[in-house]
Amino acid sequence: MIREVILTSQSTQGHVHIAPMGIHVNGDERLLMPFRPSTTLDNVLATGQAVMNYSDDVRIFAGCLTGRRDWPVLATEVIIGHRLANALSHAELEVVHYEDDPVRPKIHCRVVHEATHAPYQGFNRAQFAVLEAAILISRLHMLPPEKLESELAYLRIGLDKTAGPNEREAWNWLMEKVEAFREGSS
Ligand SMILES: Cc1cc2nc3c(=O)[nH]c(=O)nc-3n(C[C@H](O)[C@H](O)[C@H](O)COP(=O)(O)O)c2cc1C
Repeated sequence: MIREVILTSQSTQGHVHIAPMGIHVNGDERLLMPFRPSTTLDNVLATGQAVMNYSDDVRIFAGCLTGRRDWPVLATEVIIGHRLANALSHAELEVVHYEDDPVRPKIHCRVVHEATHAPYQGFNRAQFAVLEAAILISRLHMLPPEKLESELAYLRIGLDKTAGPNEREAWNWLMEKVEAFREGSS
């Protein structure tokens, strides 16, 4: 199974980096697969540590893809690092094995600490729509234009029916980026 999370990592100088990542969950293992080049990859290799943040604030997913990476963080409890301040829960990871690759290395990790901070609030279709749109937008240059338009039109249905203010704000950030891309490619 792949969990879409916000991964926090930090450089050896202590600079915190926030990025959405799909993390493979295989039993006790957590597998990170960042495409090169990646600040997350550089940080995790340099420190041997990372944090999986489970968040329902989709503004963070959309924000990271639209130049809004400055989200509040708190110090972690076991590893030397930071977690999202508004994470519902988080898992602190330690690298156990590294498989290098010129395109997409594999970083095998284990959980050294987990904590819950707030209750899970249930599924929401607009949150799913924002996540899917964020993934589309992270691949804008690889997508056929008609696929982009048809998928956004479909995702918009769930968004319009079920969004709250956070989901709307996140969607609007993503659509600004799509609009700029359309203008640039026309
Ligand atoms: C839901 C979601 C999942 C993502 N999963 C991955 C992933 O598994 N690997 C990856 O390299 N990028 C993934 N991305 C894109 C990265 O977040 C984005 O390219 C980011 O800038 C990674 O590069 P960085 O480590 O330099 O920040 C994902 C984006 C979204 C919205």
